[in-house]
Amino acid sequence: MAILIILNQADPYLLEKNLKSHPDCPEVRIYPDVGNPDDIDCVIVWKHQDGVLNDYPNLKLIASYGAGVENILSDPSLPAGVPITRFVDNTLSDQMAEFVLGAILNHRLHLTRYREFQAASRWYCLDFIKGRTVTILGLGELGSATARLLTQNGYEVNGWSRSEKNIDGVKSYFGEEQLKRSVNEADYVVCLLPLTPSTKHILNNDLFDAMKKGSYLINVGRGDHLAENDLLDALHHETLSGALLDVFSTEPLPQDHPFWRHPKIHITPHISSPTDKAQVARQILDNYARLMSGKPLLNQVDPKRAY
Ligand code: GLV
Repeated sequence: MAILIILNQADPYLLEKNLKSHPDCPEVRIYPDVGNPDDIDCVIVWKHQDGVLNDYPNLKLIASYGAGVENILSDPSLPAGVPITRFVDNTLSDQMAEFVLGAILNHRLHLTRYREFQAASRWYCLDFIKGRTVTILGLGELGSATARLLTQNGYEVNGWSRSEKNIDGVKSYFGEEQLKRSVNEADYVVCLLPLTPSTKHILNNDLFDAMKKGSYLINVGRGDHLAENDLLDALHHETLSGALLDVFSTEPLPQDHPFWRHPKIHITPHISSPTDKAQVARQILDNYARLMSGKPLLNQVDPKRAY
């Protein structure tokens, strides 16, 4: 029996090294050097190509290398009935919370703008941006960790999710009909939703029109949460003052994409919360052992909810 690593835009050898540092690790293979496909009982995947999971008749576990599983669930030839797990970890949540706090501070304190002034040898002072109200769309592991860090730092935090949530100091909005209300007081709107058919393009003109004029968008969810042209419109009409985008419909972001050169868009390369290789290796091996001994898996995805 063997684990097969299928990673795109992530280093399979580093993951292999972390897996093999555990004495109980079974044989590990790296795609496309699969050997006998009958040997593969577990795959670890990130941004795999549709169809490639169909060649393993003894597959018993599909483990996502990251928190998001939309790329797995959208594969039309996903083998039926094989459990899917995702990576849920404190390091992931803490990093995300810190990244979002950093993005808000960078904007409020104009830190990036001072680099621009510096490039022009310009001594020029700006007041801090005063608004400290944040709405987080999505209060799962990452969203709630972010909400907690922001409240600890004196921000007023609203959250929007499918069902009502109870987090100290966080005002909970929930369900379709409360979405617009959840954003209309916010100076910052942060997207940390899972990508599902109902959240695709949720960051669109309709929502932007409900947001406070001049507010700032931070998308650290998925590129497909955002209707890209709607954002360009909203920035043009100053409905929004700017956006920090960490995720894109196509990654890496194509060279000729208008976002690259947009003065009000701050781009980071899907780095808001990178997977900790040691932790993901430990978690997957733990689940592999559970699978072998017939115990319930941790962080198993419910395909109906899509996370
Ligand atoms: C990163 O984007 C992840 O889903 O873990």
